[in-house]
Amino acid sequence: MKIFHNKSEVSDYVQHLKANDDTVGFVPTMGALHQGHLALVKKGLKDNNFVVVSIFVNPTQFDNSEDLIKYPRTLDADVALLKTVSETQIAVYAPTVEDIYGDNVQSESFKFDGLEKEMEGAFRAGHFDGVGTIVKRLFEIVTPNRAYFGEKDFQQLQIIKKLVELYHIDVEVIGCPIHRDPDGLAMSSRNTRLTKEHREAAPFIYKTLKSAKIKFGTKSAKYVTEWVERQFEKEPLLELEYIIIADTSTLKPVKRKSNKKTYRAFIAAYAGDIRLIDNIALN
Ligand code: PAJ
Repeated sequence: MKIFHNKSEVSDYVQHLKANDDTVGFVPTMGALHQGHLALVKKGLKDNNFVVVSIFVNPTQFDNSEDLIKYPRTLDADVALLKTVSETQIAVYAPTVEDIYGDNVQSESFKFDGLEKEMEGAFRAGHFDGVGTIVKRLFEIVTPNRAYFGEKDFQQLQIIKKLVELYHIDVEVIGCPIHRDPDGLAMSSRNTRLTKEHREAAPFIYKTLKSAKIKFGTKSAKYVTEWVERQFEKEPLLELEYIIIADTSTLKPVKRKSNKKTYRAFIAAYAGDIRLIDNIALN
């Protein structure tokens, strides 16, 4: 498996493949790979001849310095996991902070038609400037035909689609469904940091989202969000940060339901120190 640490190496590699009429899929990650990431890689290999996976814990998207320090860094295990999928059709780009940022570890500032102001944007200052900065740079370096993002980070997916539109970047952005553990917890690199107690409590998030979906069939968004808030009050191991039912395209909280629109429910909750997010399509 090819492992690049330098942007010119990965650029040359992809240019060479594209010159031979091969197509290249791209899966940007921060590593600590799990089956959720692998599902994106496998979809990439279905649609393209080759896939590049970037592994880079991007400092500019962390609003919490402790989260950045404690973010798991497991490159050897990540490479071993990717090899179980393919040794020849997957390449890894694992840059240093300097390779991406030089000596200026700063975000650019973005406006994504207001998408950046909702939910994660409101609760994590500067987060989407960091994400926009890194993904735009990675697209420029890797120049893939297609790029794969998980609906686990649904707001991020919508923002990347907007980034590509606003900057006329020649890449097709493809969203992939949320991969879950058998008990329903959305897979996340942060799950490995949960205590046993918090890990056991965490599937409550998806369980509540599934009940919210059923209730949303007959009740208002206000009723359903208040119902979810009451459920979390009964669960001492999880602290709800937000439950928001939003329009899928604008991500603005729904005031009055319309059957012409689609909606999703979004939750962020703390399990001890670990912040977990999840979401579900409602209609
Ligand atoms: P990371 O959290 O490592 O996630 C990388 C990609 O995997 C994202 O598109 C994310 O939505 C997807 N993913 C994570 N868990 C998933 C799951 N359980 N099911 C489906 N997809 C899942 O998201 C980032 O990294 C970063 O913000 C990044 C885009 C790499 C920019 O730094």
